[in-house]
Amino acid sequence: EFSWKLKDHPKLPKGKTVGLIVLDGWGEANPDQYNCIHVAQTPAMDSLKQGAPDRWRLVRAHGKAVGLPTEDDMGNSEVGHNALGAGRIYVQGAKLVDLALASGKIFEGEGFKYIKESFKTGTLHLIGLLSDGGVHSRIDQLLLLLKGASEHGAKRIRVHILTDGRDVLDGSSIGFVETLEEELAHLHEKGVDAQVASGGGRMYVTMDRYENDWDVVKRGWYAQVLGEAPYKFKNAIEAVKKLREETNANDQYLPPFVIVDENGKHVGPIEDGDAVVTFNFRADRMVMIAKVLEYEDFDKFDRVRFPKIRYAGMLQYDGELKLPSHYLVSPPDIERTSGEYLVHNGVRTFACSETVKFGHVTFFWNGNRSGYFNPEMEEYVEIPSDSGITFNVKPKMKALEIAEKARDAILSGKFHQVRVNLPNSDMVGHTGDIEVTIVACKAADDGVKMILEAIEQVGGIYVVTADHGNAEDMVKRDKSGKPLLDKNGNIQILTSHTL
Ligand code: 3PG
Ligand code: CO
Repeated sequence: EFSWKLKDHPKLPKGKTVGLIVLDGWGEANPDQYNCIHVAQTPAMDSLKQGAPDRWRLVRAHGKAVGLPTEDDMGNSEVGHNALGAGRIYVQGAKLVDLALASGKIFEGEGFKYIKESFKTGTLHLIGLLSDGGVHSRIDQLLLLLKGASEHGAKRIRVHILTDGRDVLDGSSIGFVETLEEELAHLHEKGVDAQVASGGGRMYVTMDRYENDWDVVKRGWYAQVLGEAPYKFKNAIEAVKKLREETNANDQYLPPFVIVDENGKHVGPIEDGDAVVTFNFRADRMVMIAKVLEYEDFDKFDRVRFPKIRYAGMLQYDGELKLPSHYLVSPPDIERTSGEYLVHNGVRTFACSETVKFGHVTFFWNGNRSGYFNPEMEEYVEIPSDSGITFNVKPKMKALEIAEKARDAILSGKFHQVRVNLPNSDMVGHTGDIEVTIVACKAADDGVKMILEAIEQVGGIYVVTADHGNAEDMVKRDKSGKPLLDKNGNIQILTSHTL
């Protein structure tokens, strides 16, 4: 019979404080010049590796080991923290969507039936990340969804794209838009009026997380719903090419654009009676847009117009808020996570990171649930991130502040688990700036040092781990491991996570 009560550990004494550090995007790779962790001065991490060989080991954080579809899927923060927090492996969103599409069950579920009601008179809008990164979404799933929706009665479809360059190579967005346009042309031949209606770069339009910057979501709302954006183009391929050339923005930061017809009219704002699907399966960067699309009461920005739509997420993104209320595929049922066990066993927890990773050690850790299990037993502290900058401008981020909070929590004696996420190697690694990522890795190492000293002072126990790799390899390589060069002889920078 199930019980929340945990048995005492066979060897470890009771009542010790455990310091738990997740280094975001910190992996193992060959020590060469593109391994920023190797190049950086990281004495704290080096001493752990050298000083305790019996307690230092590699863990797999990608592919099937964390519930992803294939061994080629790099790890990511959602699946990494879900697995760490639950202590178990779940079949994750990416795979659940694959299965639902392959069996066709996605088109028979409650969520699809709900949006289908709008197909006769309304437009179906699909909003999401356009790439094959497999972290937040996958283009092959989008194409299957387009095909299936049209076979199930959608006559008018508009796609609102978000370009990637973060989970995939920068510049690859053009190819993805071309692939999408081909599929839309197929649909056209079959009598479906299907087009791209708007777009923008994922880090600048729509995909903010943990309420770091509502302006990002607002820009998306203006382009997707109101049909207003600073740039107008006749087609999406031209849009992406021109914006990359003329505004000097990369895929992650393309400014918002809308597609217009010969008369300069936006081809597909979101109107009363339409259906909307956000096709990302990953939760963190969809929660904010889901709120804007779904909540009657909303005060983060002026929506100007709030159309009456039928909205469904690819998945339900927040299990506690039940957001969105309609979804095409049920999310993994992550239950009885470690955090919930701790509150049932009288273990007090302190969790901390800065805004951009705060939800990783709370929301993801707790199985994609927001809030506390028991506020009397837990304290979650969010340190505001710098906003409006890319993190290569301030690579130390808030590592010192996070470490100080953890140190104080440890020394206070009030908590028995103190867990943090140190974001530097991941967030700066994603910018592709190698020089500065080295600085970032050192900053994370300084954070580790401070927390370990506090743990030693109280005679506690520490666990230092990572959610997935990133900064340990910053270059795209061929099969033999040699760096790949572009046509100008420059190395191809790897902004994404690794295996
Ligand atoms: C992001 O959302 O920033 C990237 O796609 C993945 O990074 P994360 O998994 O480390 O958050
Ligand atoms: Co990352």
